[in-house]
Amino acid sequence: MENILIEKQDAIAIVTINRPTKLNALNKATIQELHDGFKSLNEDQSVKAIIVTGSGEKAFVAGADISEFAHFSVEEGGKLAAQGQELLFDFVQNLSTPVIAAVNGFALGGGLELAMSCHFRVASDNAKMGLPEVTLGVIPGYGGTQRLAQLVGKGRAMEMIMTAGMIDAETAKNFGLVNHVVSQAELLDFAKGIASKITKNSSVAIAKAIQAVNANYTDGVNGYQVEIENFGACFGTEDFKEGTTAFLEKRKAEFPGK
Ligand code: COA
Repeated sequence: MENILIEKQDAIAIVTINRPTKLNALNKATIQELHDGFKSLNEDQSVKAIIVTGSGEKAFVAGADISEFAHFSVEEGGKLAAQGQELLFDFVQNLSTPVIAAVNGFALGGGLELAMSCHFRVASDNAKMGLPEVTLGVIPGYGGTQRLAQLVGKGRAMEMIMTAGMIDAETAKNFGLVNHVVSQAELLDFAKGIASKITKNSSVAIAKAIQAVNANYTDGVNGYQVEIENFGACFGTEDFKEGTTAFLEKRKAEFPGK
């Protein structure tokens, strides 16, 4: 991997986008590496939570790499968005392993879209977020028009997209775009603290919960029905047996993750 770093600490994996001289902009190669990295971490039974962050102190990700698409045709533009959504943004959203974005600086365009694809977000107090695509004569293409409106509401999303303005971390927290704001020095440990709580719970149940929550945002899918099916399926898992038995035996559960 040339553009990302993956580090494992117990059951937590940290994915760092590592193109600091380009403010971690997402070029084609980085998107493919992120896909491959997330896929292999998702298949690794020992990994129970993933944190994604940016290298350096300035940026999480400053967007899709503008130098790569500046000369694209209509067809190439459409393909860029479709492939990116499939390989990375939808892929991360639907990963069964929880993914937390640790937004450590600029999260602009594709960077904010990546953070929004993650299951939730924490930010450092210097972080700045926005979708500046209309300043380039284009619109967000990696799910930004959909996920921003889902997370902050239609009116705020419309204003952010139309003005192309950046919001600071506190505003993002007030908008519900990020869950917590801490200093940059504390950010990774803070994210690891949340990830560590997640790793103690049933990974099978968490995967089913992610699927059920996401179902509400999928056209033509009845989220309540998915919840009923996934709820029922949990009763057939070893994690369920262990969780309920441990409770009744007044001890901490040791989930097998099956
Ligand atoms: N695509 C490609 N390269 C990018 C980039 C992007 N989205 N964002 C930053 N870079 C590159 C710059 O071109 C520069 O490269 P260089 O040193 O080879 O010239 C390097 O990263 C540092 O960026 P720079 O603009 O010099 O930093 P800054 O502190 O002056 O400004 C930003 C920071 C984030 C405000 C500015 O980089 C910016 O506006 N980036 C584009 C944001 C954007 O429109 N994203 C949406 C893309 S769809």
